[in-house]
Amino acid sequence: MTNNLVENAAENAAENATENATENATENATENPPTPLTLLGLGAMGTALAQAWLAGGHPLTVWNRTAARADALALRGAAVADTAAEAVAANRLVVVCLLDDASVAGALADADLTGKDVVNLVTSTPEQARARAAWAARRGARYLDGGIMAVPPMIGVPAAGPYVFYSGSSELFEEHRATLATPAGTRYVGEDAGYAALHDVALLSAMYGMFAGAAHAFALFRGEAVAPGRLAPLLSDYVTAMSGTIAGTAEQLESGDYTRGVVSNLAMQVAGKGTLLRTAEEQGVSAELLEPYFRLMERRLAVGSGEEGLTGVVDLLRR
Ligand SMILES: NC(=O)c1ccc[n+]([C@@H]2O[C@H](COP(=O)([O-])OP(=O)(O)OC[C@H]3O[C@@H](n4cnc5c(N)ncnc54)[C@H](OP(=O)(O)O)[C@@H]3O)[C@@H](O)[C@H]2O)c1
Repeated sequence: MTNNLVENAAENAAENATENATENATENATENPPTPLTLLGLGAMGTALAQAWLAGGHPLTVWNRTAARADALALRGAAVADTAAEAVAANRLVVVCLLDDASVAGALADADLTGKDVVNLVTSTPEQARARAAWAARRGARYLDGGIMAVPPMIGVPAAGPYVFYSGSSELFEEHRATLATPAGTRYVGEDAGYAALHDVALLSAMYGMFAGAAHAFALFRGEAVAPGRLAPLLSDYVTAMSGTIAGTAEQLESGDYTRGVVSNLAMQVAGKGTLLRTAEEQGVSAELLEPYFRLMERRLAVGSGEEGLTGVVDLLRR
């Protein structure tokens, strides 16, 4: 989920906010001693999480398959375990930030999870998360799944707006809420362990739609007198303004009335297809990112009303 814009924004915010975050964490620490925890996985995201918990004064035990990645954290006070099982044994709260679901199964194969609180921040599918929750329950652990809505430079920088969706054991979440809130904001979305992943993947999917549209727009201007740097603020301002229509889509889906509040009807938008595709052709740009969406709009126009907006596309996507 790397994005230069987000990283730059996060870096700028980091300069202003790291000091405040550390000060707040220190103030809180005097009232409630920070909870000790274990973190498995010190890739880009795991390392950022570890740094935030250490900055917040949490006693931290870490483990990583490639041991050298723990060296810098050891210098900052982290205890380094030789094996994942040893790291799990060190604390009740165990946070996992490995690459994927398969690496979780492998790394924790020999660990005793009895009585542990496992928080799995690995990006996974809803079904993988539900299966992992059942796996944890069979092994005597409480389980919370998480989907991280941030890139590593945003972690520990509240002003950059990082947060994590959580779902699964509400008891675990409530008990460890303050600790989980140290690196990033927390949004609990339900007891169904698959819901954090579902929210995570839904937002990522929307993000890729936006990236696809921006890629097409930049491609249209390649070789023109307008530099990408001049197009960028126009694009981000317009995409931000158009995101205001998302709430209207939700209202139409909930009411079942897809003509409600429509100001840009489907018939008009489909009529504009030729202009967008011909412009791509004139500029020597493939329309492969744009065409599929227009095909869906045309299919909806064929079976729905031209007075609707774009909401009918949602129904066409359901298998
Ligand atoms: N980076 C982001 O922008 C971002 C944003 C949101 C969510 N996430 C999620 O956070 C998780 C970690 O991402 P990351 O950016 O930290 O990835 P990363 O930099 O590629 O690190 C992957 C981590 O997983 C470990 N690992 C991989 N395969 C393993 C295996 N078979 N057994 C044991 N350990 C294994 C690696 O250990 P070694 O050091 O030994 O290779 C490393 O600690 C992923 O699920 C990712 O989707 C990342």
